[in-house]
Amino acid sequence: MEFDEVVRRRRMVRRYDPDRPVPDEVLLRCLDNAVRAPSAGFSQGWDFVVLRTDDERTRFWAATTDPGERADPWRSGIQDAPVLILCLSHKDAYLDRYAEPDKGWTDRSENHWPVPYWDMDAGMAALLILLTAVDAGLGSLFFGVPMQCHPAVHEQFGIPGGRTVVGVVSLGYAVPGPKSPSLRRHRRTGAQVSHWGRFGRQ
Ligand SMILES: Cc1cc2nc3c(=O)[nH]c(=O)nc-3n(C[C@H](O)[C@H](O)[C@H](O)COP(=O)(O)O)c2cc1C
Repeated sequence: MEFDEVVRRRRMVRRYDPDRPVPDEVLLRCLDNAVRAPSAGFSQGWDFVVLRTDDERTRFWAATTDPGERADPWRSGIQDAPVLILCLSHKDAYLDRYAEPDKGWTDRSENHWPVPYWDMDAGMAALLILLTAVDAGLGSLFFGVPMQCHPAVHEQFGIPGGRTVVGVVSLGYAVPGPKSPSLRRHRRTGAQVSHWGRFGRQ
């Protein structure tokens, strides 16, 4: 597929065919492409926890659903996704890397960081997974884990305390579903978001 077509076809998919597993080679390609993402100082402070058995996925959904919570329609659709990839960031990997002689922030202070590059880099890697899925003819969704559910997800999957679950990529073959209400907002165009030489000059 042409690159522009991959980019334009990428949509967040919230309904999956439960009977079509993700081929191993596609999954491995997604993960191999993820590590081609850029990372500050080449820190590469990302890890991916891949859930693909019924037991693993059931435990993920149990850990991220409050008992008695009203079922969110988008969540019930993605529970059929055969694969979930938890995308983790590792802040300490960046603080350590930037304390090395060629960077020199030996105090390891977070005040040097204008934005949390550790989370940003995990997001860049996640985007490569989303694009690889499109190129392979699959669908995917990046979604967040509710704040209060992070401890349970860490516990269920043995995630060390210094890692943050930046988000989760669901992966599988798409089936048609309702459109997200967010899409009513319409996509801002390249021209609308571009400022030439000075903010506001369009
Ligand atoms: C950081 C981030 C978090 C998101 N969280 C969710 C989510 O929790 N649930 C969901 O259905 N979609 C989630 N989305 C998907 C957005 O709603 C979606 O990207 C947006 O509506 C544009 O649609 P498109 O990606 O299909 O073009 C998230 C996207 C990003 C980048």
